Amino acid sequence: MKGQSTHDHEKKASALSAVSLVRDGMIVGIGTGSTAAFAISELGRLVADGLDITGIPTSYQSEILAAQQKIPLTTLLEHPEIDIALDGADQIDKNLVAIKGGGAAHAKEKVIASAASIVVLMVGEAKVVPLLDHAVPIEVLPYAVTLVEREVRALGGVPNLRMAVHKDGPVVTDNGNFVIDSDFGTIDDPRRLNDEIDAIVGAVEHGIFLNVDEVHIGGTDWVRVLTRRE
Ligand code: A5P
Repeated sequence: MKGQSTHDHEKKASALSAVSLVRDGMIVGIGTGSTAAFAISELGRLVADGLDITGIPTSYQSEILAAQQKIPLTTLLEHPEIDIALDGADQIDKNLVAIKGGGAAHAKEKVIASAASIVVLMVGEAKVVPLLDHAVPIEVLPYAVTLVEREVRALGGVPNLRMAVHKDGPVVTDNGNFVIDSDFGTIDDPRRLNDEIDAIVGAVEHGIFLNVDEVHIGGTDWVRVLTRRE
């Protein structure tokens, strides 16, 4: 079994590889999570060396880290067109369909990915699987939680309201909503499940990402890049 330092090494390798795509003048979507944190540090180092970019964070976490790194920031309101979005993922298959939202930031991550010309994910090799089976995080309006849980069950899923660790009660997202981690077992048809969850009223966004262009996979001493074939 791999230790934490191996996982960190793989995350960092994937992040450095993805950051190498960033060029002067770009508007950069800045993802959330521990892998994105490596990318933010690297972007900070490059900005200190003169790289001219403007970032749009996907969460309070990435906003704080980017500000600490003195990366100039803007908002989607001011810049609705993003050149490149860099983000982590919880699981990804060979067709570049990903499940995100382990950090409950997937709603904003998905909005920012949808505004980006190119969406690049960064993962360690253990997250690449033949068939997705990670629970799908669904961000929900708090007053709709019971209704959405019922709909998840009707789709064959097992809903689990995500509970906070250092707060009593449920996780509250950066948008003020709850998250239902929905276990569908092995997901044979993620595109169909995507459409089915999209149709649930009260669900704000879910963690299935279909618009990934490229994934940088970090291994022990290598990085492999998968690119979506149209
Ligand atoms: C945030 O909600 C997520 O989508 C993260 O991008 C995802 O959970 C990956 O996080 P790690 O890089 O910490 O594994």
